[in-house]
Amino acid sequence: MKLSFIRNFTIISHIDHGKSTLADRFLEVCKALPKDKLFPQYLDQMALEREHGVTIKMHPVSLFYEKDGKEYLLNLIDTPGHVDFSYEVSRAMKAVEGAILLVDATKGIQAQTVSNFERAKKEGLVILPAVNKIDLPQAQIEKTKKELQKLGGFSFEEILEISAKEGKGIDNLLSNIISKIPPPQKTKKGALFLALVFDLSFDEYKGNILFLRIFEGEVKKGDRVYFKNANLEGEVKEVGIFKPHFEEKEKLSSGQIGYIIVGIKKLGKIKVGETVMKLEDKEKIDFVFPGYREPKPVVFSSVFPHPPSTFDQLKKAINKLSLVDPALFFKEQRKKYLGAGFFCGFLGIFHFEIFLERLKKDFNLSLIVAWPNVSFKVKTKRGEEVEITEPEDFPPPELIEEIKEPWVRVEVILPQKYFSNFLAILPFFKAEFKTSEVLGNSFLEDGGVKLKAIISMPFRKMIKGFYERLQNISQGFASFDFEIEEWKKADLVKLEIAILGEKQPSLSKIVDREEAQKEGKKLVKILKEIFPPQLFPVPLQAMIGGKVIARETIKARRRDVTAPLYGGDVTRKMKLLEKQKEGKKKLKERAKLKVPAEVMIELLKREKSF
Ligand code: GTP
Repeated sequence: MKLSFIRNFTIISHIDHGKSTLADRFLEVCKALPKDKLFPQYLDQMALEREHGVTIKMHPVSLFYEKDGKEYLLNLIDTPGHVDFSYEVSRAMKAVEGAILLVDATKGIQAQTVSNFERAKKEGLVILPAVNKIDLPQAQIEKTKKELQKLGGFSFEEILEISAKEGKGIDNLLSNIISKIPPPQKTKKGALFLALVFDLSFDEYKGNILFLRIFEGEVKKGDRVYFKNANLEGEVKEVGIFKPHFEEKEKLSSGQIGYIIVGIKKLGKIKVGETVMKLEDKEKIDFVFPGYREPKPVVFSSVFPHPPSTFDQLKKAINKLSLVDPALFFKEQRKKYLGAGFFCGFLGIFHFEIFLERLKKDFNLSLIVAWPNVSFKVKTKRGEEVEITEPEDFPPPELIEEIKEPWVRVEVILPQKYFSNFLAILPFFKAEFKTSEVLGNSFLEDGGVKLKAIISMPFRKMIKGFYERLQNISQGFASFDFEIEEWKKADLVKLEIAILGEKQPSLSKIVDREEAQKEGKKLVKILKEIFPPQLFPVPLQAMIGGKVIARETIKARRRDVTAPLYGGDVTRKMKLLEKQKEGKKKLKERAKLKVPAEVMIELLKREKSF
């Protein structure tokens, strides 16, 4: 297809502003699927995406649209809106020339609207602003347009008004995509074929799949290709496009977005951002795409298989997940009590939660999971400085000279009427208020204004439910974006939990010294409520430096061993009860209770709702 008939673009917005619903309308208008096959948020095919109602992965789709008697190929990439998945957004942006910036008319500009807009601008994309959900009675169209005007300097007329749900304004938006987003340009490196790997996927039948944006030349089945960074070569087994399901094609050519399947053993070595060319060009073409910045994990945790004999299944599952989640960091580790498992890094707490759910639901695994943590810099009395990502590795208190922890700069956008609520929650997170300013000069219909507030807080505190609290106090109207800003001195201790007298490393956590007692009490109390009862009493203890600071006991779950006896054979009853007591003692001696993943997930949930 001629380049002038191709448009590549992405849809970006804050979470829930309607990207996937807009993609549905595009699928419908472009007749990509029969109407009866199209269900809402069609591109969110993953079970977890549907369950949570959020997009986790980017989703490319090739659409054909006719305008003025000419057929255009529109390659769209739907992206996630949640801040923890912004790595997906930034990768999608490298594969396209334009972006639709979608803003919900009932919410106006929110934090990821701003950050995604900034990203798209930096990438040099042509940005088409559109106000969505205009069908809703509470839509504030004028106000939202004013906010967009202020944000991006757009003229009032160029900001489109649409309803992704009802299909209003969609044809106009498609026309604008064709007239305003430039067609792809050739890189002109003189290559037979040059492409960027912008995503990876895995299919049960097809195996590993590479998502490509072709910048020069063409590729077809049977071609031998070379991966520059990984220094690997292989034969192309299949090429195709996303319709939105994989559809095999004869070839892919310059300007297009599609996939290839390559027969290579060490495919795991190929990372997103890779440059692919024809093997014949290996020596001739000295060019690599700048690639993607390495995603930097900021939340850490360890997972162990339960029972330990399922380690191989866990290993396979994590390897498979890493193929579709390039932001996941993992390495094998072995722990004294837990055996072999994995130490993992995530881009945020939601990323971590989704990872756990996928292992549990998609792979049916039972896990022992450590508390998610940030990293700390610890200076010992011997003068060494170490970065620690697991509480277990904390040196004993008497050896610690100084601890530093990461602080984040958080940018919050919210209507002014929630501002006092917002200030009231800051102490819970040890957050420091910096500045606030009116966002644009747009007045809300209730007479208030929207504010942008800057605060900073320990990252450790932010991952403990800041998002949920902010949503609660603002009825969902506040949003935030964050970045790690500096390392600050902190007065912290390691809180340890013992179940049945045995320390549970997965439950150790680093807490403020002044809150340790309260935190310890709270933890054992919750554990008492949620830990599955056993046939014997289970003592729970919270400790600091070996000293018990709080305790609870889970009562034994009674099994009526005398139930099969009718009547009043008292001696036999006594005998059975005695036997049971003996059995329980033995059981208790033998028992080594571990913390199952469900308990960990429930603990996290409870902690967030404080
Ligand atoms: P993430 O990918 O998770 O960021 O969400 P998203 O931006 O893809 O939003 P999604 O399409 O999932 O829509 C969020 C909610 O808004 C859903 O309940 C949609 O039905 C609803 N919605 C989307 N567009 C419209 C619209 O034009 N009008 C109305 N009334 N509702 C809409």
